[in-house]
Amino acid sequence: MPIVVVVGGQWGDEGKGRIVDLLARKARVVARYSAGNNAGHTIVNERGEFKLHLVPAGIFYAEKTCVIGNGLAVDPEVLLDEIDSLKDKGIDTGRLVLSDRAQVIMPWHIELDRLDEKMRGDAAIGTTGKGVGPCFIDKVARRGIRVGDLQRAEDLVPRIKSALDYQNRVITAVYGGEAISVDDCCERYLEFGRRLKPYIGDVQSIVIDAHRRGEYVLLEGAQGSLLDLDHGTYPYVTSSVPSSSSGGAALGVGIGPTDIQRVVGVFKSYTTRVGNGPFPTELFDEIASQLRDHGKEFGRGEYGTTTGRPRRIGWLDAIAGRYSVRLNGLSAVALTRLDVLDGLKTIKICTAYELDGKIIETFPAQESVLERVNPVYEELPGWESPTTDVRSFDDLPPQAQAFIRRVETLLECQVDLISVGPAREQAIIVNPIF
Ligand code: IMP
Ligand code: MG
Repeated sequence: MPIVVVVGGQWGDEGKGRIVDLLARKARVVARYSAGNNAGHTIVNERGEFKLHLVPAGIFYAEKTCVIGNGLAVDPEVLLDEIDSLKDKGIDTGRLVLSDRAQVIMPWHIELDRLDEKMRGDAAIGTTGKGVGPCFIDKVARRGIRVGDLQRAEDLVPRIKSALDYQNRVITAVYGGEAISVDDCCERYLEFGRRLKPYIGDVQSIVIDAHRRGEYVLLEGAQGSLLDLDHGTYPYVTSSVPSSSSGGAALGVGIGPTDIQRVVGVFKSYTTRVGNGPFPTELFDEIASQLRDHGKEFGRGEYGTTTGRPRRIGWLDAIAGRYSVRLNGLSAVALTRLDVLDGLKTIKICTAYELDGKIIETFPAQESVLERVNPVYEELPGWESPTTDVRSFDDLPPQAQAFIRRVETLLECQVDLISVGPAREQAIIVNPIF
């Protein structure tokens, strides 16, 4: 049975949580493989609306093992709060497993995230401020603290002392901030370690054993491919590998690239971005506000799950999209929020960029170049009738069918799933993914 990866095809917030929730029905194991609590997944089901930052979206199904892989940066306080709030709503969290190899977000990471953004001034990345970037910097610098280290004072105390010996100098001398107390950190994080202990387990064995038993495994991506540290709009990216490229997904749970059979890329029917950085198809007109506030009264507007920031809005960008399809080796696209386009007279798709009078059809590496390109649009007729109650491709308005077919051609990838609303049943399965 396949291991399937779900990745974000754009700049995050494509509706991965919603797609994972749908696909999780058949999976035995659902695992997060990258990023940290900078991510935010909104899931609506019969038990209510949930905003998850770390716990995989499979948690709402009984008998699924939900895994937080080694590839994550975990703020223990956020994770424990999330576990408590799920328990409060009667959801069993006993099936949650946390990798002892995952990195821990420490107080200095959050402080450094804030100070660094401030120092960058106008060139700030627009991070979520959760300390994820500085945590991954420490991972690479081999100064990180891992979940396993929280289990014993003998491991943790010297690591915190040595990390703070360095970081307090950086905080005070480079950024003019205030030093962080070693003792406070040691006590608090040992307590977090004690509370997290029941969740710690061997992630690799869980994933591989389920796979060998012939059960489905779903690897749940966070953020989007265009925020990828290597392949995204650098430097306006996140500090981890959200794409499945270069084995980001395999790396984040400790398996090999050949273990992965399918990669599903989630794309919104338009584009959004939070934070700074280039966004060629960004809109500033009435349509942007209309799309942003669609369903706002039901909490469905385009506002960040983690930060509440209004999302920047634009048309679907097929140049960025095709780049993302190739980067991830996508086997299928899941197209979300088609219903948000309901009622628009015309819908645009960017099919090329114009750069200094020349047409280009590839995604430039330099953010300064991307800032200068002008999108070339193809305009398609919209559809009048709502799609929210449609459950099969053939029942979609002909213009909506034509839009989807055009997306497939431009992205060079088939659309297997379409979502037309936040509820589990508001989906059109064009081809079964499992
Ligand atoms: P960081 O990951 O907090 O360092 O933020 C770096 C960039 O990634 C910023 O542009 C953030 O807005 C963006 N980002 C991080 N996580 C998410 C997410 O889950 N959805 C959308 N954007 C995100
Ligand atoms: Mg999100």
